[in-house]
Amino acid sequence: MESIRSEAIRIAQLAGTRIKELREKKQYQEFLKDGYELVTTADLISNDLIKTEISKIFPNHHLLSEEDSEQKDMSIQQPTWIIDPIDGTVGYANDHYQVAVSIAFAVEDKVRVGVVYNPFLDEMFYASEGSGAFLNNKPIKIKDVHHLKQCVIGTGFPHRRDNIRDVIALLENILPNVRDIRRLGSPALDICWVACGRMQGFYEGKLHPWDVAAAKLIAVEAGAKTGYYSAEQNMIIPDCINGDSIIVSSPGIFDEFQKTLTNK
Ligand code: IPD
Ligand code: CA
Ligand code: CA
Repeated sequence: MESIRSEAIRIAQLAGTRIKELREKKQYQEFLKDGYELVTTADLISNDLIKTEISKIFPNHHLLSEEDSEQKDMSIQQPTWIIDPIDGTVGYANDHYQVAVSIAFAVEDKVRVGVVYNPFLDEMFYASEGSGAFLNNKPIKIKDVHHLKQCVIGTGFPHRRDNIRDVIALLENILPNVRDIRRLGSPALDICWVACGRMQGFYEGKLHPWDVAAAKLIAVEAGAKTGYYSAEQNMIIPDCINGDSIIVSSPGIFDEFQKTLTNK
């Protein structure tokens, strides 16, 4: 897996540098996907760059990317790269810094390598299965906490706003019971921030495999616990890439966090 990991790091860095450059020169356009979701031409350029680089080295590997228009096959039995070319597009288009390129490699139903790169802060999070998690080549660990009340918790909101009641209900449950809430705009980075202790938990209602595949491995390798706040998550999607009602947290608060979200 070492060569896969170093290729994933190299490609994430290349794509990250490109999107940063495009933003600095304002060389991108915004448009709407499906009438409500913001995408930019930088998302598509990053997507093409990542796919071209992977295909040059691993021509037989499958690619599962958010920005591919064809029907998405969520199977990760065969060697598969799971790509979010820009995670945090709304932040990207508003000159925010919490923006990432997320690349994971999976085979035989498990994510083996995960890389999440924030080019604006030059922070490279990565992990390979069983080898720990790293930020800019230094090992990272979750913060050892035992009381939800002392924790900073991250979350995100869906692009579609037709199910807003559920989002508010979760916030109503969690906000009175934590130190504070953050909505930073990139779930991949939020989960990496749990991994390195900057936040102690993260939840969101409906994330996709490309949002969570790399970051979940990084968090687990840093000692985090992952699970779901609802028993109704999509069971067809393998656990390691499943983002439905996702919870990632320091293990010492996981049960309390889960119970508090569901008000049980
Ligand atoms: C979205 C954002 C947002 C989150 C959404 C994601 P995108 O990803 O990261 O913060 O709340 O659920 O889909 O569209 O920027 O890649
Ligand atoms: Ca995303
Ligand atoms: Ca994206």
